[in-house]
Amino acid sequence: MSDTTLVILGATGDLTQRLLMPALYRLHRLGLTKDLRILGYAMEKWSRERFENHIHKALKSFAPDYTEAQWKRFSKQLDYVGGQLDPDDLGRIKDKLTPSTLFYMALPPPLFGPASQALGEAGLASAPRGGWRRLVVEKPFGTDLASAKQLRAQMHAHWEENQILRIDHFLGKEATQNLMVFRFANRFLEPVWNAQHIAQVQITYAETLGVEKRAGYYDHAGALRDMLQNHLMQLFSLAAIEPLSCWDADVLRDHKVEVLRSVKPITARNVDKHAVRGQYRAGKAGRKKLAGYRSEPGIPKGSNTETFAALRLEIDNWRWQGVPFYLRSGKRLASNCSEIAVQFRDVPGPLPGGVKAENNWMVFRMKPEQGMDLIANAKLPGLELDGHQVTLSAPYVKAGENEFSAYEQLLMDAIEGDRSHFLRFDEVEWAWRLLEPVLKRWQKGAPDFYAAGSDGPSTQDRLLDSGQHWRPVA
Ligand code: BG6
Repeated sequence: MSDTTLVILGATGDLTQRLLMPALYRLHRLGLTKDLRILGYAMEKWSRERFENHIHKALKSFAPDYTEAQWKRFSKQLDYVGGQLDPDDLGRIKDKLTPSTLFYMALPPPLFGPASQALGEAGLASAPRGGWRRLVVEKPFGTDLASAKQLRAQMHAHWEENQILRIDHFLGKEATQNLMVFRFANRFLEPVWNAQHIAQVQITYAETLGVEKRAGYYDHAGALRDMLQNHLMQLFSLAAIEPLSCWDADVLRDHKVEVLRSVKPITARNVDKHAVRGQYRAGKAGRKKLAGYRSEPGIPKGSNTETFAALRLEIDNWRWQGVPFYLRSGKRLASNCSEIAVQFRDVPGPLPGGVKAENNWMVFRMKPEQGMDLIANAKLPGLELDGHQVTLSAPYVKAGENEFSAYEQLLMDAIEGDRSHFLRFDEVEWAWRLLEPVLKRWQKGAPDFYAAGSDGPSTQDRLLDSGQHWRPVA
């Protein structure tokens, strides 16, 4: 870590104050980034003091473990340069860099390509002997397959693929990483983790939040681009991957790509069998009235952007033949319930005394609290031989307790050069490729409506096999 510089491009913006600085502050508090220099860079012609004050204020609001004493130590690491994203201005920071430097583009997505080129033209992409240069970029990576390829070409003009770290912050979440550990570190799971024993997998990321202040971005993106193409597709591939032969970033990413490549293609003709879109109308959360999406500030009155998207994916390989994977996410739903839920098949034969058994579920809960539930059947205590469902629950991290935001892990990995939790371009590419027919189809027509505060559009049921039900969003 010694002599490493982190340059944040877009250092006066929202991502920096809400997520990056609190994560860096926390790493500093843990003693992990003591020698890191943090150089803020943005258009504003601010002095170092002004930048420091700005970050000071931000940490007071966004770092739950803020203390004055800690801030005094942390602030010594900060520096600032104001300038445009052009090679001349960027060239002026050259003297402030150490041989090992990480550039973080905390910028609006249209600037990713131009900024990475400008850094390259300023000669900042190649490191002096003994050092390294890396570039961090955060989703969205394009808005479809063609634009993602275009962005890659722009970035590759000056940067090698192994210098580029693509963030999907879900990969830094504890719950995501636990999915990998729990799946592979428990001998009892692997023999049943296949189509012979698993009936369906439901990956749900439900949010009570609406579009908030992001109308400009969200109305062009929609739920499919904002959540499914990246975050949920990552959870999906991690739930379905084969065991790794060794813990290596490229082996891991090869395995994830293998899953994406094995998905049965959605074709222009069967989009409606595989995808459902919805948009929230006015509704209620308890007594509170909630506005419809089209009445939110900044959203055009006739917008057909989806605020809910659900997909049915099937994997064409030996392990998963015939098992539907359902992915769904939406805004303004009934709760912040987010989970990966795996349903096992029926028991194969009759039970003692005719006891009825429900299907087992293994649930990895991501929100509101992180944990794992195994839903099983047990005898109902009493004189009758009867069964009932019991939940074996293991809390993982309690909300508000020792919780990292995902950025702590990702920043540490980026500095240390561990690429396991970053996306390789082929993952991005395959995810777009799969969704192309859906995106195309959804350019026309209107989404199905659902009341704000509900479980989403009722039409999502059409994706399910007969006898299957969505788990409640509550
Ligand atoms: C972001 C999406 O990538 O992920 C947001 O743009 C979404 O729309 C967010 O709310 C969800 O992630 P988290 O970690 O805030 O639950």
